[in-house]
Amino acid sequence: GRANIGVVGLATMGGNLARNLARHGSAVALFNRSPQRTRDLMAAHGDEGTFIPTESITDFARALARPRTAIIMVKAGEPTDEVIRQLTEVFEPGDIIVDGGNARFTDTIRREAAAREHGLHFVGAGISGGEEGALEGPSIMPGGSVESYETLGPILASIAARVDGEPCVTHVGTDGAGHFVKMVHNGIEYADMQLIGESYDLLRRGAGMTPAEIADVFAAWNRTELDSYLIEITAEVLRQVDAETGLPLVDVIADRAGMKGTGTWTVQTALDLATPVTGIAEAVFARGLSTQTAPREAAQARFTEAQGYPGGTLAVTDRAAFVEAVRQALLAAKLVAYAQGFDEIRAGAARFGWDIDLAAIARIWRGGCIIRAGFLNLIAAAYDGDPADAPASLVLAPHFARLLDAAQGAWRQVVAHATLAGIPVPAFASSLAYFDGLRSPRLPAALVQGQRDLFGAHTYERTDRPGAYHTLWSGDRSEIRVG
Ligand code: 6PG
Repeated sequence: GRANIGVVGLATMGGNLARNLARHGSAVALFNRSPQRTRDLMAAHGDEGTFIPTESITDFARALARPRTAIIMVKAGEPTDEVIRQLTEVFEPGDIIVDGGNARFTDTIRREAAAREHGLHFVGAGISGGEEGALEGPSIMPGGSVESYETLGPILASIAARVDGEPCVTHVGTDGAGHFVKMVHNGIEYADMQLIGESYDLLRRGAGMTPAEIADVFAAWNRTELDSYLIEITAEVLRQVDAETGLPLVDVIADRAGMKGTGTWTVQTALDLATPVTGIAEAVFARGLSTQTAPREAAQARFTEAQGYPGGTLAVTDRAAFVEAVRQALLAAKLVAYAQGFDEIRAGAARFGWDIDLAAIARIWRGGCIIRAGFLNLIAAAYDGDPADAPASLVLAPHFARLLDAAQGAWRQVVAHATLAGIPVPAFASSLAYFDGLRSPRLPAALVQGQRDLFGAHTYERTDRPGAYHTLWSGDRSEIRVG
């Protein structure tokens, strides 16, 4: 028999995906650039299902039933292009190439168009859930043609995580839509992690709690509306003790956060779309600031408590009340970050011509992926039904608006106290500013328009009648209509 699916690239993610496929009844063709990895996988896991190991791309193609379907799990960028070149030579019209890596969606759009020239289907599929998700059930965000999804959909559904019996996979939209949505998923992941980090800092430095005490707080929060994978693992990280020093591990880990690019892409893309994703942007910039070692050291030495600067502690008299205020602030700010992420998906869909069902995206994020959470059920409910009736922003969905009614007071208190104490809360603060920006009946954007018209004759609109206007600032200051 032949394989119904193949995997190219058998590092941990690819190997685990292949095993997941085989365990769910697929016959899986295997190919890796260095054949030893294929042999190792067969030796360790060959008995878990039906595998057809191959050691050349030609044999790999031969092992696959038509339409051939292959998932590429190699490094993004040039290595991916190289495998696509090889597969394009041995595949035939109608065959399907799936890129399961974290590719940039613009690369996916380019590769899809190129593959189409050869009659091939190219599907950029976001796969979230890390190594464990790849093996046990990830959340999968495939783009590409509707036709390719007829073949691919059932295979992906067999390996995806399940929530309420539904597989966490949907056809997101054509060409790069899947990788676009995966990119925004990662941006939201960054924002969520930053907000959790700010909450931790407030409890740790602000309220003077120990990592073990804070682990208990997060474990308790995980039984509230905040219930999520990221909150759960936060408690686990905070409970860990370093074997060597006996200190909480979090105190031994260097406070310089790494990143591999997807958060940055989310913000770059949002800038192009003029969609304010302030929570995600602050999260990316906070990671950047953490690695600015020289200015950090110099500023720590220069702007000290002895110089009159606040030292990062809060006078907390009622610890339980403070913990609850931070929880409310986290909930509100998280909602704003998700609202901004979904706005970016909506804007991307409009720009690139994708028909993306936002409720379906929320549903496939309920399981398998890094941001999986009960919260996503509420987002799915907010976007369910006729898109014409969808809330203009998630914050306006009735359930979420009531959540903000209850949380906004605590949110303001937390941001104000943190600011006075000198505890940086960029994501809490910028999401609150964004929310107040939405609420403000008049924005100083009017003044900005006046300034632009004065120095550059950029014109402005009026509140009281249509048209574009310019004031003759260097003349008699009368107003003329210019459009
Ligand atoms: C996932 C993750 C994954 C990525 C992390 C880490 O959905 O499974 O998003 O794709 O490894 O986002 O990214 P950074 O290294 O940029 O933090």
